[in-house]
Amino acid sequence: MDTQQQLHYLKTLGIRIWVPSDFAPQLSRQRHLPEQQAGADAQLQQQTENTRAPVTAQSDWPALEAKVQSCTACDLHADRTQTVFGTGDPNARIMVIGEAPGAEEDVRGEPFVGRAGRLLNEMLKAIGLQREQVYITNIIKCRPPANRNPLQEEAYHCAPYLQRQIALVAPRVIFAVGKIAARDLLKIDQPISKMRGKLYSYAPLDIPVIVTYHPAYLLRSPREKRKSWQDLKRLKAQAG
Ligand code: URA
Repeated sequence: MDTQQQLHYLKTLGIRIWVPSDFAPQLSRQRHLPEQQAGADAQLQQQTENTRAPVTAQSDWPALEAKVQSCTACDLHADRTQTVFGTGDPNARIMVIGEAPGAEEDVRGEPFVGRAGRLLNEMLKAIGLQREQVYITNIIKCRPPANRNPLQEEAYHCAPYLQRQIALVAPRVIFAVGKIAARDLLKIDQPISKMRGKLYSYAPLDIPVIVTYHPAYLLRSPREKRKSWQDLKRLKAQAG
């Protein structure tokens, strides 16, 4: 992508560039494997591995998607139009992980297709990527009622599906969008503002994770788009 094109996408995002930016900043190599992961969360992870992971551990894509489609492990299945599995390149270098499907995603069966999704597409374009070139999914595969945050119990039931998706894609880097995605992937409950700018690891598979604001938040707080641009540059550098 040439510079003009990139500036066009940045303008669409509402980001004004005053100074030529360094396009490949060195991301702190510091890996955060937080202590918070110990204790209750470690126990939950252990339970996940003991009780459910074997069911999905051997699944290939069609088998995994079929399991998700027929899942009734939590109450969310009762009200869904359909499950929202994931979309994009199954061999992508970048895996984008959001929170949960909203109303439009529930109807269309695809993640990030509403307003927030359209902004996500623009964010990806700003670093030269089409949505089809990354793999996009959510922590939760069914829509929570009234767009409430997913419950931990719901995330617990979906965790083996997500873990298998991550293992199958084997991305170079995970882009965790929003606090819920960051919290569930990393078992760290901190504001996004504290988590940005660091390189974390998705512990079960030791895959680097970059945390950023959720596009829905950026729609409400456009001033933060400049920070998300920093995160996007780190993402591009990490993906190689
Ligand atoms: N927000 C998310 O986190 N995921 C979607 O799929 C849509 C909106």
